[in-house]
Amino acid sequence: MAQTNHFDSIAEVFNRIWYFSDDYKEFVIRHIREDLSLTPEDVLVDIGGGTGTFTSRLVDEAHLTHAYCVEPSSSMCSEAAKLENITAICCDADDFLASHTPFSKMLFKEVIHHIPNRAEFWKTLYTSFQNGGKALIITRPQKIDFPFFSAAKEAFARHQPPQELIERELCNGGFETTTHHRSHTFTLPKEDWYTMLRHRFMSDLGVFSDEEIEEGIVEIEKKYPEKTIDIIDNLIFIIAIKKGY
Ligand SMILES: C[S@@+](CC[C@H](N)C(=O)[O-])C[C@H]1O[C@@H](n2cnc3c(N)ncnc32)[C@H](O)[C@@H]1O
Repeated sequence: MAQTNHFDSIAEVFNRIWYFSDDYKEFVIRHIREDLSLTPEDVLVDIGGGTGTFTSRLVDEAHLTHAYCVEPSSSMCSEAAKLENITAICCDADDFLASHTPFSKMLFKEVIHHIPNRAEFWKTLYTSFQNGGKALIITRPQKIDFPFFSAAKEAFARHQPPQELIERELCNGGFETTTHHRSHTFTLPKEDWYTMLRHRFMSDLGVFSDEEIEEGIVEIEKKYPEKTIDIIDNLIFIIAIKKGY
């Protein structure tokens, strides 16, 4: 079922404004392939796959024959539907599980904070997997190192579930978990970073008015006088396995 969300308004510019450098993509793709132990026999589901950029790259690089990009924003999903090597499905995570579509691996990249009733969701996911099924959650710590203005940092922390909570929920759902902390830094011309902020490239920025964003940029400008800015992306990779005995 299609629904309207923050990402409907930024779908067209998402790939352009989110700074997906080749280095960044390679770093993320390499770890997803390793953490999910992807083989050509796997059927991958990318929950909240957005415009399908990562789903499509994973299909090519892991030589998958089938992958779904599950995306509730109809605008984002229409972008994903343009990619011929993946199947874009316009629905949310719960509706996808309810469809009983078979799959072996599931990816949640930067989406876990959008999933409601996670405790229930993990239990259903556990029963949907065969033994050996794996999920990978890529998320961020509540205290983000991005050069945000302070109100944006607070908004981010409010919406981000702590790592320990996600791990506990997964264990209660039957999964065994392993967690890795990995960091990637990229340097951007400051104007590019400000463009990302003005486009509210992350949903946590959606609550701020144009005026508040401009005030936030003034706050950042005082702290970072140089022409470029370092974006330190500290990512948390939580692998959840259905062992089965
Ligand atoms: C930050 S974007 C991440 C997109 C993509 N995974 C990436 O890393 O490029 C979060 C995505 O999750 C989607 N989303 C929000 N709620 C969702 C839900 N309940 N189930 C599945 N996806 C959801 C949003 O529409 C949005 O496209």
